[in-house]
Amino acid sequence: MLLQIGRNKGADARPPDALDELAACHARIRSFTQLAARLADGSDASPQALAEAAASVARYYAVALPKHAEDEDRSLAPALRSATLPDDVLAAIDVMRVEHDELDAIVAAAMPAWNALASDPSSWPDHAGLLRECARTLGLFWDRHLGLEERVIFPAARKLLDTTALEKLGREMRARRQPTVGIAQTTRGG
Ligand SMILES: [Fe+2]
Ligand SMILES: [Fe+2]
Repeated sequence: MLLQIGRNKGADARPPDALDELAACHARIRSFTQLAARLADGSDASPQALAEAAASVARYYAVALPKHAEDEDRSLAPALRSATLPDDVLAAIDVMRVEHDELDAIVAAAMPAWNALASDPSSWPDHAGLLRECARTLGLFWDRHLGLEERVIFPAARKLLDTTALEKLGREMRARRQPTVGIAQTTRGG
């Protein structure tokens, strides 16, 4: 059972805040990563289903996920660093930043296969090996990365960030998701 973060006992008494939205981002990450795994095992899926799933995964990883990493590196981490942090939280923030760069490399390896499948689902056999390897790598990465954030960083944020800091965090997250003029926003950020 994966850890449910951001909402704890009694949390229903307050409206959702930025930490709840970060937790919701993690749920979406897990959902799209599961879809990537099904894509890798998709020999029985219809061509249309394969193409739609591949396009969906590619769009999520290209458009939405980077906003979540920015939320953490450019908003959450600075907010936390303004407090006096225990060593384990400081170390976890450093690891988080480095792992976001590792993630870029994993996604860059998978993206050509997702895009190829989105435009030509009949090419699935050509990409199946890479899709499986990338899905496996992503699964292992997220187990480690989300686990650290949910065990160490998010609980520290819940403990240390006051209402003003959480509202600022929320404003910065929403600003990253403002539609760009002239470009359709088709995927919710994070
Ligand atoms: Fe992260
Ligand atoms: Fe995260």
